[in-house]
Amino acid sequence: MSSTAQRYERFARFEAGGSSEVYEQWTAAISRDPEVLELIDGLPEDKRQPNLVLASARSCGAAAGPYPQFRSFLQERWEEIRPVILRRSTQTNEPRRCAVLLPLLAEIARTEERPLALIEVGASAGLCLYPDRYGYRYDDGDLINDPGRPDLVLDCITTGNPPLPRSCPEIISRAGVDLAPLDPADPRDLAWLDALIWPGMEDRRALLQAAAGAAAKSPARIIKGDLNAEIAGLIEAAPAEAAVVVFHTAVLAYVPKAGREAFRETMSGYTSGRPVHWISNEGSGAIPGLAAPAGDPGLFVLHHNGTAVARTGPHGQSLHWLQRVLP
Ligand SMILES: C[S@@+](CC[C@H](N)C(=O)[O-])C[C@H]1O[C@@H](n2cnc3c(N)ncnc32)[C@H](O)[C@@H]1O
Repeated sequence: MSSTAQRYERFARFEAGGSSEVYEQWTAAISRDPEVLELIDGLPEDKRQPNLVLASARSCGAAAGPYPQFRSFLQERWEEIRPVILRRSTQTNEPRRCAVLLPLLAEIARTEERPLALIEVGASAGLCLYPDRYGYRYDDGDLINDPGRPDLVLDCITTGNPPLPRSCPEIISRAGVDLAPLDPADPRDLAWLDALIWPGMEDRRALLQAAAGAAAKSPARIIKGDLNAEIAGLIEAAPAEAAVVVFHTAVLAYVPKAGREAFRETMSGYTSGRPVHWISNEGSGAIPGLAAPAGDPGLFVLHHNGTAVARTGPHGQSLHWLQRVLP
């Protein structure tokens, strides 16, 4: 099996499986389809990701239906789909990931006894920079931080008894960096973010629209650049009275290994200086040198200052607490 075939087979099994029947079927079928694999292998290596290829096809009009229909679409419209793949990148922006960050954010604000300055690296359109604008319902518990409208409430199931806060911590500044920041007020960017949502996940689609609408009213400053190049300046610019929280979710898998190592070194150094906390919510093994607990490889690992504290559903849908760690 070629490496592209393996990649699609793994995506079907560990990522789409149980989440999107259509994507599971498409990617499993692609992994066994030499003609479609040949098309994909004609792309640069970093453009062959299932998410990117499928979202590009869908943004060109591919319907979420049976594989033979999708296969014909891909082959007939490849000359239109290919430039989208080359121009765009996987920038899925999932506000629900705030639900797995909130307990740590609240613990940090509580123990530091100060408000937070959030810095998100790999922010996409920045929809995870507004945890205080969403409501949260963990399991069947009470609503935390009522946003005043049901489409901004994030549901999350938990195991392991995470330290759930009663309210959201105060956030006095938010900033981000991305290689290609998206504008939540731009309909073309929003259409791309929508195409990145997997078929069958209509709740995510509705949340995206609601969150982008809320963000567009007062968007955070997201600078265009590489996370390693910009992180020091962003930390420097954060208000002195705040505890700085640098976080990233679903980003480092897109960064080459040397860049991930450099970022880990930078953040490990900062954790011993002024109150700078580092929260990482990434696929298992994404950060070289950081231990990942054993368990379901389809889950992300949530690290705080380099220590694994939870495993999480990749779209923020679940939080599996491992231990209670105070900053
Ligand atoms: C899958 S999206 C995740 C977005 C957001 N963190 C979330 O969880 O919803 C990954 C983002 O990381 C950005 N990215 C990838 N490599 C980067 C780098 N070296 N520096 C800055 N941003 C990067 C991409 O442009 C993309 O917007």
